[in-house]
This record gives sequence, C-alpha cells and structure tokens, in this order.
Amino acid sequence: MTILVTGATGRVGSRFVPRLLRRAEPVRVLARDPVRAEPLARLGAEVVIGDLRDGGALAGALKGVAAVVHLGAAFREVGDEEAVAVNRTATIELAEAALRAGVSRFVSAGTTLVYGPGRGRPAREADEPAPPAWAYTTSKVAAEEALLRLHRTEGLPVRIVRLAFVYGEGDPHLAESLAWARDWPAHKRLHLVHHADVGQALLRAVRAEGVDGRTYNVADDAPVTHLELRELNGESVTEPGTGPAVDQGPADPWEGIVDTAKIRRELGFRPIYPTVYTAYEAGAL
Ligand SMILES: NC(=O)c1ccc[n+]([C@@H]2O[C@H](COP(=O)([O-])OP(=O)(O)OC[C@H]3O[C@@H](n4cnc5c(N)ncnc54)[C@H](OP(=O)(O)O)[C@@H]3O)[C@@H](O)[C@H]2O)c1
Repeated sequence: MTILVTGATGRVGSRFVPRLLRRAEPVRVLARDPVRAEPLARLGAEVVIGDLRDGGALAGALKGVAAVVHLGAAFREVGDEEAVAVNRTATIELAEAALRAGVSRFVSAGTTLVYGPGRGRPAREADEPAPPAWAYTTSKVAAEEALLRLHRTEGLPVRIVRLAFVYGEGDPHLAESLAWARDWPAHKRLHLVHHADVGQALLRAVRAEGVDGRTYNVADDAPVTHLELRELNGESVTEPGTGPAVDQGPADPWEGIVDTAKIRRELGFRPIYPTVYTAYEAGAL
C-alpha cells in the first residue's frame, strides 16, 4: 500500500519517512523543493514536486495512494496568511482530494498547543480546544474541525494525532526551547515526545482498524521542568543567580501537559523513550 507523506522534508517527516522505508512500505512524498527531497529519494521514496496550496499537484500526488500521512504545515518563519492557507485551507483541500482518490487512511498531525491552559489537570482529547490566538494554533484547530466534519458527512477516514513538543535524533528543538522557556518559572513543565515515538504513533494510527474520526494525544511519560531544560542544554543552574525564577508559580501547573491514556488504550502506544533521560542515555538526542 503506497503511503503519501506531506511535509516529508520537515523535522518530523525527514525522520518518519526513513522509518517507513525501513519497513519496506512504498512511500511517495509531496515536496516543494527537489533538493530537500533528494535524501528521501536516495532512500527509495518516490518524489512528487508540488505545493500543498496547488490543487492540481494534490490530485497527481494522490493517484494510487492507500494512505495519507499529512505532516505538511506552515509555522516556522511564515506570516499569518501563509499559516492559514497551508494549515487550514490546503489541509481541507488535501482531505477532499483524498476522499475523491478513495484513500482508506488519512492521518493528520495536530498539536497539543490547541488545548490552552486552565483545566487544572492534563488535557484530554474530548476537551474543547482553547488555543492561544496565534495563526498557527487557530488554523490547526480549524483544520481539525473541518477534517472531523468531513469524516461525519463524507466518511473521511481521518485519524488526528496531536503531538507534544518533538525532540531527538539531532533535531535542534530542545536547544531552541530556551528562547522562550527561559522566562518560565523554574517548575513550569514542557511535555515532550521523541521522534521515534512520533513515528510509532503515526504508524499505529495508519494501521489501526475502526478508529476513523478519532483524535489522540502523543507524548511521553515525564514532562520536564524549565530547570531540567536548562540543564539538558548544558547550562549550570546551581551557582547563585544562575537559576530560573522561583518566586512565582505557573497560573495553571497543568498547562501544556496532556493525558495519553487514550492512545495507550486504543492503539497500544507505549513510549520507546518514556523520558528525555532514557533518550539521552541511549544516545538518541
Ligand atoms: N515539531 C514539533 O514539535 C511539533 C509539535 C506539534 C505538532 N507538530 C506538527 O507536526 C507536523 C510536522 O512538523 P515539523 O516540526 O516537521 O514542521 P517543519 O519542520 O516546519 O516542516 C514542515 C513541512 O511542511 C512543508 N510545507 C510547508 N509549507 C508547504 C507548502 N505550501 N507546500 C508543501 N509543503 C509545505 C515543509 O516543506 P519545506 O521543507 O519545503 O519547507 C516541511 O516539509 C506539523 O503538522 C506540525 O504542526 C510538530
């Protein structure tokens, strides 16, 4: 069964596609830059060049495809207009084209940022999204709503996987986190998920029977505090004056933390790296 992967040249996709190819799955990728797609072509992926916002490219890319894993998204260094055009509008068009092409699986990457703060407990999939008012998060919520509507009205075989903060396998994301986490109180936490576990979750979502229209949180078992993030990035926090602020607490200590019981129960997900420290010890950062 050929799997079409969008966003294959991105941080998640460039690590997920080789995993698929190692399992001898036929993979087609939709990429807008042949140079960025070249390493995937060398590994055996079929490359279709095109932009997600080009409807003509979508129909061609979907020909003969049984499953779609939609990772393409605009949120790094793009304006609001582009974020909405790619994350909402193009996602809906891709789903409509996938319905016409008769795919049997449509796995779409979401983000746990859609939950927002204020629940006083880890966020669950049934919670109403209350995202921060950024084009990225609001366009992801709008896309999810449209995908679920297409499931109800036209039978789109969608499975949404909401990813926590993804790290590992050379991704600079953990180091980048300090650009904003540095202002956090010492004990505010970030929920992580390793690329190997994102790969596991996406594969489980593709293969599972009878879970169309469902949404799953994907995260590890041990969110890290701001203090730990600093230490993981090699910063000393033990000298006087070098540690983060301790005189304030987060308004909601559960902000950004998600419950993963559903993906464990329904898809059999068990993190390969339950904590960032197991990934560190395995040399998988
Ligand atoms: N990384 C995380 O921590 C994280 C957390 C939660 C959710 N997610 C979700 O996971 C998915 C993948 O994220 P990522 O971190 O891998 O993002 P990324 O590194 O920014 O990659 C985005 C991918 O989308 C492609 N893309 C963007 N605009 C496009 C367009 N107009 N046409 C075709 N392709 C386009 C990019 O192509 P180019 O290579 O040509 O730019 C790239 O392959 C996204 O849906 C994101 O929302 C990620």
